[in-house]
Amino acid sequence: MKITLRLIVSLIIIVALVAIGFSYYQVKIERQRLVGELERRTILLSESLEESVIPLAQSKSFIKLNRFVERFGNRERLLGIIINNIHGEAIASTKAISGYAPLILPQVLNSISEKRAIHSFKKIDIKEVFIYTKSFEDEEGNIAGALSLFQDASFIDVRLSEIWKYNFIRLVILSIVIVVITLLVIRWSITGPIAQIAEWIRDMRLGNEKVKKKTKTINSDVFAPLIKEINHLAKTLTLAQKSVEEERIRLDAESLWNADKLKAYISEKLGDKKLFVISNREPYLHLKEEGKIKFAVPPGGLVTALDPVMRVCDGVWIAHGSGEADRLVVDERNKIRVPPDNPSYTLKRVWLTKEEENGYYYGFANEGIWPLCHITHERPIFRLDDWTYYQKVNEKFGLAILEEIEDIESPLILVQDYHFALLPYLIKEKRSDAKVAIFWHIPWPNPETYGICPWVREMLIGMLGADLIGFHIQLYCNNFLDTVDRFLESKIDWEQFSISRKGHISYVKPFPISISPEFSVNNNNIPSKDALKESLLKEMDTNASYMGVGVDRIDYTKGILERFRAIERFFEKYPQFIERFVFIEFGAPSRTHIKRYRELLAQTEEMADNINWRFQTKNWKPIVFLKGNHSHERIMPFYMAADMCMVTSLHDGMNLVAKEYVASCLEDSGVLILSQFTGASRELKDALIVNPYDIESMADAIYLALTMDEEEKKTRMKKMKENIMDNNIYRWAANLITELTRL
Ligand code: F6P
Repeated sequence: MKITLRLIVSLIIIVALVAIGFSYYQVKIERQRLVGELERRTILLSESLEESVIPLAQSKSFIKLNRFVERFGNRERLLGIIINNIHGEAIASTKAISGYAPLILPQVLNSISEKRAIHSFKKIDIKEVFIYTKSFEDEEGNIAGALSLFQDASFIDVRLSEIWKYNFIRLVILSIVIVVITLLVIRWSITGPIAQIAEWIRDMRLGNEKVKKKTKTINSDVFAPLIKEINHLAKTLTLAQKSVEEERIRLDAESLWNADKLKAYISEKLGDKKLFVISNREPYLHLKEEGKIKFAVPPGGLVTALDPVMRVCDGVWIAHGSGEADRLVVDERNKIRVPPDNPSYTLKRVWLTKEEENGYYYGFANEGIWPLCHITHERPIFRLDDWTYYQKVNEKFGLAILEEIEDIESPLILVQDYHFALLPYLIKEKRSDAKVAIFWHIPWPNPETYGICPWVREMLIGMLGADLIGFHIQLYCNNFLDTVDRFLESKIDWEQFSISRKGHISYVKPFPISISPEFSVNNNNIPSKDALKESLLKEMDTNASYMGVGVDRIDYTKGILERFRAIERFFEKYPQFIERFVFIEFGAPSRTHIKRYRELLAQTEEMADNINWRFQTKNWKPIVFLKGNHSHERIMPFYMAADMCMVTSLHDGMNLVAKEYVASCLEDSGVLILSQFTGASRELKDALIVNPYDIESMADAIYLALTMDEEEKKTRMKKMKENIMDNNIYRWAANLITELTRL
């Protein structure tokens, strides 16, 4: 629009200047012509007048002379006549101008002394008057006087201003025509084709089918070279989109993803390149037990999900070495092949001082970011010292990964979780060829909530170093984009879900994490569900017809107290289930250096005790609380045999316990009670979805789960199982790698 306006204004100025120039010239010529004509006419008049005036003047017949001039002066445009004698005295004049005799005296005297005709223009009564004076001679040839004719010359100004007026009107009409023509030409030849090209490029970007047709309809010589180039681009883009689409269809269409398939896929995609994973938590930690070094798998979804992928990829996993015997088993580069009982990939341990661990992990990550992102009404604590350690530890891990990828071209790096928000930027700053993804395993709240973090901008800038930013669900992606929009100067594309900042683009996508399909049990050699349940309950020193299970890190986000309250209410409301239902809770103490977590552990134990005290009988108690870090092998039979599993998180990015239970449930005879505030509830829609804050309905959900018709249980469980088997962790990894390699 601006350019159109500029063009129109320039054109009008040029046309106006030319029009003014020409008008000025025209007026000048016209004036000369009119004055000349007036002069000629006056000369003729004066000549015809002279013949009669001379004899009358000579004979001093002044009365006759006056009468004569009065009569003669009554003609068109002639305003009057004055006749002077040789001394300049007026001897006759027409009445109307007799008063102007002194006005023309100098002109009269000059004409007499110089013996020639003189003319001038004078303003008389606001009229422009042409005054022509000519001396005349007597019969002897001596100058006898002068006669002056007054001609009305105002018609000249009228004529000239008409010329100006007409030329101005012509200029206005011309300007309107110029504006209209310019607008039409710009529309037809510039903005029209540009809009078409823009729409065409947009269609191309979105992979729209009508792209080809558009190339034919764009008619513009000006843009011909551009259109030619875009045509090339379109072809390349269409091919690229096609291959991505084929890849996606292939990923979607191919039935079940498993370890072998991911292995083949990764070797096709990465060749002999290794995959790098960085997380705070290590997949295996080493401990000393009775003088011997043993290994353990820490609790938590991250390890459950990524360990099977890394076994397939044979990559390098860099993590904090937190086990008391970790240093004893690594090589000089702090590396060890894991799993210890079946080495398949490399674990590189990074050592942290006590201060670093306190500040970065317990402080900033778990007292700040963790409660900030989980909206569970737990106040986040941000301390400057913790932030300083967070930065320092991110830099430390940055050095560790940079050392690993030193000789590798375009390495693929998967940064994990909220402990390393700054790492993508630190890596890219040094290695712009690296392809970096960060996967955020916890929720991302809305901008108002996230804005509480005093270092919100630094965190976002760090994350935006990544080429790909993954969350479990679309809602967290939306929240993230909103947060960036609120706090950083950047360009957000809501169609592509990308953020462009300082020339770098980060794509933001949901990748719902999952579990390995191996979780799904093979029924061979397994006793019936009831038999297994009976033996497990016996082992727990209790007895009941129904068994429920819960598996959690002891964390306030998991809603364990709410769950226990619901169980208590269930027994109050449905006392017929006393001695018939037992709930087994596996609770792994977690982050116990944080006071809030220690308090929660104590509260959990106390609440279990209180409920048991209230309802227990001689050989039965409602809750069996198994505190400790339990292996998957230990938990698995409980998943298999339980009639129901309770996942009651107050807020949870995904929650893999829900998926583990569904995948493991024997004979599909079980019910999942699942919090509506988990990412998993978006996929497992056949669970009994509950609000963990609503104790009454949770108690009813337990009742519904235990009394549900067997057929309905099976139908629901089968559907959920299919979903999990289909969208398993191998597909998750393949999707992530496809997306990252595509960028
Ligand atoms: O949910 C976030 C997360 O990092 C998970 O990935 C993991 O399951 C859990 O927290 C473990 O926490 P931590 O490593 O602090 O024990």
